[in-house]
Amino acid sequence: MSLSILPKVELHLHIEGAAPPAFIRGLAHEKNVDISGIFDEHGSYKYKDFWDFLKVYEAATSVLNTPEDFASLTRAVLEESAASGVIYTEAFISPDFCGGRDVGAWKEYLAAIREAADEAEANDGVVLRGIITCIRHFGSEKARESAICAAETAGDWVVGFGIGGDEKMGALKDFKWSFDCAREAGLALTAHAGEWGGAQSVKDAVDDLKVVRLGHGVQAIDDPALVDRLAEDEIVFEVCPGSNVALGVYPNWRAHPIHRLREAGCKVTISTDDPPFFHTTMNNEYDRLADAFDWDEGVFTDIAMTSAQAAFCDDETKTKILKRLEQR
Ligand code: ADE
Ligand code: ZN
Repeated sequence: MSLSILPKVELHLHIEGAAPPAFIRGLAHEKNVDISGIFDEHGSYKYKDFWDFLKVYEAATSVLNTPEDFASLTRAVLEESAASGVIYTEAFISPDFCGGRDVGAWKEYLAAIREAADEAEANDGVVLRGIITCIRHFGSEKARESAICAAETAGDWVVGFGIGGDEKMGALKDFKWSFDCAREAGLALTAHAGEWGGAQSVKDAVDDLKVVRLGHGVQAIDDPALVDRLAEDEIVFEVCPGSNVALGVYPNWRAHPIHRLREAGCKVTISTDDPPFFHTTMNNEYDRLADAFDWDEGVFTDIAMTSAQAAFCDDETKTKILKRLEQR
């Protein structure tokens, strides 16, 4: 069975984290910036652990500093997505990296990204929507500014608000103002939780920030009562197994809890997070999961439908995506 021909829906992808290393090296060369230390001898990103990964991520992102850079990045990222059969994707975009959270500058970056996304949709049929993301270790004050950028641009393209970064820093409740602001602007909410912060951080995301989706969320598996509650409340897990294995959250694919969460009735979806950092693609995620858990085409089709239903886009877009999945 070839899983590569299946149409796919991805809900958790960091736009800067999806930058191919050669693309970042090209920009660094053009701008005369030396970030050679973040690459290994094969030209891949090099990092020791999650915290070092965040530093390398920010160093790579430092060469992305114009709207045109983000437009080129969007083209490169969506080309890769289309190559894996992705028909719809939601990307995390941070005002921190797009104009330093200034609303005017942010709008220029966003316009450039949207224009590139429209081109990719016309050429390859892949649909992109944005989830505006604050970064936990940058602190709650900067998160408020990001939330204001998100609220100012909320609509049919900017569809969600989230938080990424170092889950061990600060408390999720410190970001309540930002999440309330985004919700009041009509944005749907997700938060990175239960990647590094244990089951308690998943509870905090649901209780304090009122998210309907969890970035990762996988450590909820350690609290069976919480798993039952998340299944009952139909909270959607944006699971990124290749990311979790590459960063050492789980030692190997078979040890990953995605199968157990699904068996427990939780709504799981599959994404790549920061694909070149973890040497993965959506096709690779599918293939590794099929090997690890003996999942067949039916399981993947079911997960793709769950993903489309959990997308933050408007109903018209969602219906189109669901139709394309059904046509297969
Ligand atoms: N930003 C990019 N990738 C991330 C991850 N896996 N966890 C938290 N923040 C991130
Ligand atoms: Zn992530």
